Amino acid sequence: MRRFGAVIKGTGSYLPQRCLSNADLEKLVDTSDDWIVQRTGIRERRLAETSESTSSMALKAARAALDAAHLTPEDLDLIIVATLTPDMLTPSTACILQHQLGIQRHIGAFDLGAACSGFVYALSVGSQFIGSGACKHVLVVGAETLSRLVDYTDRGTCILFGDGAGAAVLSAHDDTSLGVQAFSLGADGSGGEFIHVPAGGSRTPASLETIASRQHYLKMNGREVYKFAVHQMTVSLEKAMLDCQLTAQQVRLVIPHQSNVRIIDSATEKMGFPRDRVMVNIDRYGNTSAASIPIALDEAMRTGRCGSGDWIILLAFGAGLTWASATIRL
Ligand code: UT7
Repeated sequence: MRRFGAVIKGTGSYLPQRCLSNADLEKLVDTSDDWIVQRTGIRERRLAETSESTSSMALKAARAALDAAHLTPEDLDLIIVATLTPDMLTPSTACILQHQLGIQRHIGAFDLGAACSGFVYALSVGSQFIGSGACKHVLVVGAETLSRLVDYTDRGTCILFGDGAGAAVLSAHDDTSLGVQAFSLGADGSGGEFIHVPAGGSRTPASLETIASRQHYLKMNGREVYKFAVHQMTVSLEKAMLDCQLTAQQVRLVIPHQSNVRIIDSATEKMGFPRDRVMVNIDRYGNTSAASIPIALDEAMRTGRCGSGDWIILLAFGAGLTWASATIRL
């Protein structure tokens, strides 16, 4: 039973300056601008400087979200960071962020791992803390430095990914008909091998051999992920609408994980959404995994694509395999 509505009080994002265009990639691997644009919709993506990391980008996005919410770091009761590229294995990026935000209160902070579905998973967790009355303000961040995991000799993956961070502040509201109204989380671990980083964990720790055989890079079976994504994004979108008894006309904006414009188009067209009610910025940023939805959400809020009173649906899928959706009344 929800005692409070969990509303999105403010959003923020950060994209690094450095730009990697399709023309730049043509110099690294056997690919072409035409192929990348037609098969993915991506034209360029941003890459972190060597001085930047997941926490430094998360910090900038978090500060922007707090400013938009007219709150200070001290107002927060909990921090959740969704990422598959943490600064280090331990401590968590959320703890690093808590410290960097200069928070004196010893509020809870933890990372959440659900790959590209991570932000929507984290938002659903944060909304539980708000709904129960345990927290008043929760900072939810999705941040990734995927360029550190990408193999720039593998044309099947290096064309897709970029770096960045997005954040949202969830706040308690007396009106439970506002904020996160429904969410749905799913996972199928049998598909784990379709997107994975083989070494660097407890099963295969780092060694000279794992480095030589490039086992610390992200490996992906693009075709299998594509098939899964097209099916699951459609099923998830239908469920997200059904959960709140919404028709496509009543939903102001669908904000999907920016994975591939063909996947996005396939799912949203099937469910009756015209392009102008689907948020797409993959052309500029590529796939930023857990950061893609909060970056797109922030852009949508700041450019007036959605606003107070609107219904929006967040729609994600990713490694795990995982998937997640959230139906929200802003
Ligand atoms: O956040 C979740 C992360 N993952 C995803 O969202 C990935 C989902 N999958 C995809 O987006 C697509 O599968 C890709 C974009 C990765 C690949 O597109 P595709 O249309 O599924 O291509 P394909 O793998 O079926 O390959 C078609 C051809 C192959 O050549 P042959 O065997 O037909 O001669 C590939 O070797 O395209 C070739 N190819 C490329 N050619 C130029 C694969 N990558 C490239 C490339 N440039 N970068």
